Amino acid sequence: MTTTTARTTASTTATATRSQRQFAGWYPSMMERVERAGQSRIRHDQLAVASGRVLEIGAGNGFSLDHYPATVDDLVLVEPNPAFREQLRHRLAGLALPAEVRDGDAHDLAFPDASFDVVTASLLFCSVDDPARALAEVHRVLRPGGRFLFHEHVRGGPLRGALQDLVTPLQRRLADGCRANRRFEEHLHASPLEVASISHLRMPTWLPTIVPLVVGTAVRPGRTP
Ligand SMILES: C[S@@+](CC[C@H](N)C(=O)[O-])C[C@H]1O[C@@H](n2cnc3c(N)ncnc32)[C@H](O)[C@@H]1O
Repeated sequence: MTTTTARTTASTTATATRSQRQFAGWYPSMMERVERAGQSRIRHDQLAVASGRVLEIGAGNGFSLDHYPATVDDLVLVEPNPAFREQLRHRLAGLALPAEVRDGDAHDLAFPDASFDVVTASLLFCSVDDPARALAEVHRVLRPGGRFLFHEHVRGGPLRGALQDLVTPLQRRLADGCRANRRFEEHLHASPLEVASISHLRMPTWLPTIVPLVVGTAVRPGRTP
């Protein structure tokens, strides 16, 4: 990529809630170790085919930013947590990415229909209240033929699932709404997106409730007119 623009919207001055501040305080250092243990490779593979105009939803502090290829022309980062938006700004300052940071909500994306070639999300769908609605929004803002590149931690098998059910109320409080037991794959298959590929991997972490991962691509059916 050749541009060095890092734009942000005025809404970055909004105040974070206590839960958002706390999460933005510990998540980056906790995940830094996981990234070094192999999560960054998963991000790299997830994002390798991103190109054109790209939207990342729930960008957090920006762990994915290092992995966007030079085929990305324009990157919009939506993040509702003002503390994370601040961290994103700092991270972008050292990167040659044509990126823009915006406040926003996965349930109601402030973009016209069919306005992106690619939408990406990582470890987001555990946190949204209504995954079906958020996936419908991904479908709406993608152009026909556009790709949704995802990487999400999900509910595991019966034993782990039972543990995740048990821990989810606490995890939601500690991690700004994160549900350990989210059945993301079921929501994805029920959405208007077509699943093109899906791999079942393991997050390299000691925290057993967030180990099962799905990584893959879904497509908005149709062709660009
Ligand atoms: C576990 S963090 C993951 C952050 C980042 N995507 C990553 O891979 O490290 C979940 C992120 O989703 C964001 N989020 C939660 N609810 C959201 C919503 N309704 N719309 C958009 N983002 C949301 C949170 O603020 C947080 O940044």
